[in-house]
Amino acid sequence: MSDIETIEAEALSAIGGANDLATLDGVRVSELGKKGRVSALMKTLGGMDPEERKEMGPKLNALKNRLNDAIETRKTILEDEELDARLASEKADLSLPPRPYHTGGLHPVMQVFEEIEEIFGAMGFAVAEGPDIEDDFHNFTALNFPIGHPAREDHDTFFMTPDENGERKVLRTHTSPVQIRTMMNEKPPIRVIIPGRVYRNDWDATHTPMFHQVEGLVIDKVTHMGHLKGCLTDFARAFFEVDAVETRFRPHFFPFTEPSAEMDVKCDRSGGNVKIGQGDDWLEILGSGMVHPNVLRNCGLDPNEYQGFAFGMGVDRLAMLKYGMPDLRPYFESDMRWLSHYGFKPWLLPSLSGGLS
Ligand code: PHE
Repeated sequence: MSDIETIEAEALSAIGGANDLATLDGVRVSELGKKGRVSALMKTLGGMDPEERKEMGPKLNALKNRLNDAIETRKTILEDEELDARLASEKADLSLPPRPYHTGGLHPVMQVFEEIEEIFGAMGFAVAEGPDIEDDFHNFTALNFPIGHPAREDHDTFFMTPDENGERKVLRTHTSPVQIRTMMNEKPPIRVIIPGRVYRNDWDATHTPMFHQVEGLVIDKVTHMGHLKGCLTDFARAFFEVDAVETRFRPHFFPFTEPSAEMDVKCDRSGGNVKIGQGDDWLEILGSGMVHPNVLRNCGLDPNEYQGFAFGMGVDRLAMLKYGMPDLRPYFESDMRWLSHYGFKPWLLPSLSGGLS
């Protein structure tokens, strides 16, 4: 047998016999490595006469290629076997209960959503939702923002690229478009809250381009400002868990409510931290008002038969206030230290009877 045949037979049997990746690599080094047998044969080419070299060169190259191929094939098999063994040994039983609380937690925004839903749920509100990508009609026009009205510019709207019909959708700038969707799809009496994400092009310590709102909508035959004030004052007391919270309604303007009011809660800012229900400062926490007759008409409701009120609040800001977080930006940075400091225990749903937080 020539050297080539001997080496090939021995190498192939060593490759086939290698039962792990390290042994296989040992075979590769001793045959094809710098000091390996095939490499040593290659070196003899230089001392051959041209005729012999012409014959041996291609043979040696072909041997090298065949051995390389055999090693690669064996390597794939061994890697698959290794993976199978790992998969078999590293089983995770997903039916086991989760590990105790210290691993995962609820983001404060989610916690506050749940608290708000619990409070309004107890008052008989249902939860409604709508799409994040809205059309101009629901986000603006139906809400009584006239075409070209400057209030459209106030929202720092993110526009999508126009579709094939030239229609330019928007990332909704507030949850109010879901008022329209609800009134167009449901018959009064209506009592819903609408939690969701909203988007405005703004970025600093107290503004992020995506943030969260909860909208509220009540439509019935005999709804008036007194109901609005009572409902939202009750909400503030339940949410801040302070019975003495005082509220104040300041006249304001929103195109979709008339009259409109911002609600402030009494607070104390003297110690650096805002304390709700003490002191004699005021802090704005939501916008509200009686649903504008034009909005009712746009949804096919007769303003002489139905009235109602609506409100909208910023959840991220309410969370900041209640849980003393000074900056909004870390909300979205997924920093485990921040999350474990400000996060909440999962599975402990807030309840009015058992405590909200
Ligand atoms: N949509 C308003 C905003 O985002 C809030 C609001 C909702 C005001 C409902 C009145 C009634 O600022």
